[in-house]
Amino acid sequence: MDKLRITGGRPLEGEIRISGAKNAALPILCAALLTAKPLTLTNVPALRDVSTMAKLLGEMGLSVKRSPERTVLHAPSIEDPTASYDLVKTMRASVLVLGPLLARCGRAKVSLPGGCAIGARPVDQHVTGLEAMGATIAIEHGYMHATAERLRGARIVMDLVTVTGTENLMMAAALAEGETLIENAAREPEVVDLARCLTAMGAKIQGAGSPVIRITGVRTLGGAEHRVVPDRIETGTYLAAAAATGGKVRLTGAVPDALDATLDKLREAGATVATTGDSIELQMSGRPTAVSLRTAPYPGFATDMQAQFMALATVAHGTAVITETIFENRFMHALEMQRLGADIRLEGNTAIVNGVARLQGARVMATDLRASAGLVIAGLVAEGETVVDRVYQLDRGYEALENKLSALGARVERVRSGLL
Ligand code: EPU
Repeated sequence: MDKLRITGGRPLEGEIRISGAKNAALPILCAALLTAKPLTLTNVPALRDVSTMAKLLGEMGLSVKRSPERTVLHAPSIEDPTASYDLVKTMRASVLVLGPLLARCGRAKVSLPGGCAIGARPVDQHVTGLEAMGATIAIEHGYMHATAERLRGARIVMDLVTVTGTENLMMAAALAEGETLIENAAREPEVVDLARCLTAMGAKIQGAGSPVIRITGVRTLGGAEHRVVPDRIETGTYLAAAAATGGKVRLTGAVPDALDATLDKLREAGATVATTGDSIELQMSGRPTAVSLRTAPYPGFATDMQAQFMALATVAHGTAVITETIFENRFMHALEMQRLGADIRLEGNTAIVNGVARLQGARVMATDLRASAGLVIAGLVAEGETVVDRVYQLDRGYEALENKLSALGARVERVRSGLL
């Protein structure tokens, strides 16, 4: 497996462009299942998760044509509405095909995702929401077998805020008969971007971005062209990296408004942050100040930024208390950061991080994407060489990571498997 070798100690400086959002692109690719007409997307990031989704859709009979500029998806018919265990186990977002398949084909067979490195992550809210819309879903041999004549609108009150759950139900409701109300809906910008794309396809959706989404179903959806929103987590990751290393960066092609909670915390840590249009500039002089945080659904502080801020806290002045409320097992990076000399104590879903003056390079590895990003930041700060194992985790969600880091002056290189 490829590794990333980082020689730390150099502030990040320079300018890079932010890519399209992974977590917006994935549901939007699935939206192509809802129409017999072509869906043309731009700003789709070149990521492993996007390739996995393209492969999954391809297995169902969709044609997926990708070039650097655009991705065109076309499903005149769907040959096999099945998502196999082999693909679903590698990417949980595969469950996003369930709602659209059921709405378009009246049946779907989707593997249950199984365990996950960051927590239990059940899909019960997806299932009960679709059942409220008239679907019958049976679990057999590890698969959800879903059927429905035609889904009908329903009032669905979600037990908890779920991003892909909201997206699955929104896509299903777009083709259902009558009106669906999704209450306690996720408000993430990626949900809003999906709603924008569905609306361009002819769906009738109101309230995306608020806790109540109202969808009036239509008989068919058409083709559309849609540009995927910039990735707010990629943006936040580079900002946290610049802050941790005492650097100065300018990120273009971003959406500053989607990053309020992150920018507030960076300012609290002592960074100077300025936003203009689609760009964000950050400058940090000296060591950051410790900032405590608690993850929450949007517009709260994103769980997908927690590991990166833990890396920042490891070298800050003072003590940061970091509480993870979304996933129960999302502190795997803390133990790896300890290997770099960080002072972190875990108490249930809380990490108490006492900042130290310096970290020291070491070999580390992570079990999920954002944890790996946190380790990369720690490696950029640490003295000497850090080797981050399992780079494929980073390739799932960070487009051209080494190139972008190198453009900011970091000393980073990919070591092909077997060469270290
Ligand atoms: N949950 C349930 N039942 C459900 C659905 C969710 O109990 O039916 C629980 C989960 O176990 C979790 C909480 O609800 O404790 C929130 O999970 P959510 O469903 O919102 O997560 P997700 O939709 O599976 C998306 C992102 C994640 C991100 C979370 C939270 C995509 C493709 N993935 O996952 O992104 O962490 O929302 O913001 O949009 C990542 O990019 O690294 C990543 C993990």
